[in-house]
Amino acid sequence: MSQMRGDYKSVWNSLSGSKVDAYMVVAGHTDEEKFHEDAEDTLDILRDTVGIKPEDTFLEIGCGVGRVGRVLAPFVKAWIGCDVSANMLGLAGRRLLGLTNTRLQEISGFDLRPIADNSVDVVYTTVVFMHLEEWDRYNYVREARRVLRPGGRFYCDNVDLASPRGWAVFEDSRRFPPGERPAQISKCSTQPELEAFLKHAGFADVRVAGRLDFWAYAWGVKPGA
Ligand SMILES: C[S@@+](CC[C@H](N)C(=O)[O-])C[C@H]1O[C@@H](n2cnc3c(N)ncnc32)[C@H](O)[C@@H]1O
Repeated sequence: MSQMRGDYKSVWNSLSGSKVDAYMVVAGHTDEEKFHEDAEDTLDILRDTVGIKPEDTFLEIGCGVGRVGRVLAPFVKAWIGCDVSANMLGLAGRRLLGLTNTRLQEISGFDLRPIADNSVDVVYTTVVFMHLEEWDRYNYVREARRVLRPGGRFYCDNVDLASPRGWAVFEDSRRFPPGERPAQISKCSTQPELEAFLKHAGFADVRVAGRLDFWAYAWGVKPGA
């Protein structure tokens, strides 16, 4: 029987059974140098939105093989990588060897239960929301608010349905006959969707933007600092 999209743990463990499979599903290639360059781009976006400060504890939801964590950790106090897949976390552990301010945490796929309330400064999630149901995206936004300290910052992104290249992703996915859609197939968002999630979850100073005719992203601040 084919896997259900919402069975995230089993879906993502089977997609990451080998290093090559995991790299392909995370980035579409296995070139370590390009991995590093892509991660530098993600860092630039984080700098421009939530900011990166040496005293920050960062948490990534859906950290994969630590593509971002490896380049981000040297700039911050601590980096916590959370993922639903033990296979992904195993590969991340090898890539992060020697970075003593990093920690990996397996999560259920629906929440950040192992993380204490008010304990981190920045939560971000990148290249993950397209693989989740909308309700599960929103639940993570709420969980981010819970684990952030007052004044903490949150960032999320997804492919933008309203952008030209986002529409192409939608059309590509539409070509699959209903019974043959892969469980992890990308489902786009829009800037208003992400904005609504952050506002309903209680974030302040909510901002949205688009990038490269492809990405929608949103960021905000937990009130009460
Ligand atoms: C395309 S990869 C992106 C990895 C990483 N964020 C990056 O940009 O390199 C998607 C990641 O999300 C994880 N993931 C999928 N569903 C998840 C869920 N419900 N909760 C947490 N992580 C999830 C997968 O295991 C995978 O590591």
